[in-house]
Amino acid sequence: MSDAKSLASAIRERAGDAPVEMGLILGSGLGHLADAVEGTAIPYDELTGFPHAGVSGHNPKLVIGDLLGHRVAIFGARSHYYEHGNAAAMRLPLEVLTELGASRLFLTNAAGSLREDIPPGELMMLSDHINFAGANPLIGEKTDRRFVPLGDAYSPAIRADLHRAAEAEGITLKEGTYTWFSGPSFETPAEIRATKVLGGDAVGMSTVPEVILARFFGLEVAAVSAITNMAQGMSDEKLSHEHTKTQAVAGAEKLERLIRRYLSDLA
Ligand code: HPA
Repeated sequence: MSDAKSLASAIRERAGDAPVEMGLILGSGLGHLADAVEGTAIPYDELTGFPHAGVSGHNPKLVIGDLLGHRVAIFGARSHYYEHGNAAAMRLPLEVLTELGASRLFLTNAAGSLREDIPPGELMMLSDHINFAGANPLIGEKTDRRFVPLGDAYSPAIRADLHRAAEAEGITLKEGTYTWFSGPSFETPAEIRATKVLGGDAVGMSTVPEVILARFFGLEVAAVSAITNMAQGMSDEKLSHEHTKTQAVAGAEKLERLIRRYLSDLA
């Protein structure tokens, strides 16, 4: 049995057999939704091969259970490329997610905005991305499945549902292109100017490798950034991880309402 299959059966033994509909990977300061799930929490260190996510503000456990009538698997922490230089660190967790029956993945992250019309505290749904870090989690994959098309990486159908959910909740939900920088240092003002020329609307240090992996595994994907700051050089704010976590609070509240409304309106 593959690692993913045996992990999935170990998880089913603890959390029950019902198939999972959707996975959620929650970003910095955005992990509280996991506490609302009625179900089973399994710390990552009890799941052999799951990454040890060491970033403060993240919650390294897998929670499987019911959220508003839908069976979800919440990854309370993601592994970031900047922790180890391995873009494929979330490959096993995402393979396990598909083994558990999921067909969708919802990601959240904290990001810096390049758009004056999407200020801190607002949400930006990803319509596309730029892989500025240049790393790819499928390097070394042997099969031709590695040639994953990314023309529709962010599901138009889920995005339409999320726009409806946002409208129903009175939440402004703009869309834009997320630009992945490896981190952990923040960007320079020149890098932000370059990103603007390239067509990036927000910058962050996550999400893109998981989106590529999720598409590789055939999952439908949606991702939403909680904007915590204007990108470097666009305001006088001093950027830090502390700042990201404190500023994520406003976005987290909106994100939680958005996800709840999306799930409760889902057939
Ligand atoms: N840059 C990169 N990652 C981030 C930022 C940023 O400005 N804000 C939150 N995460």
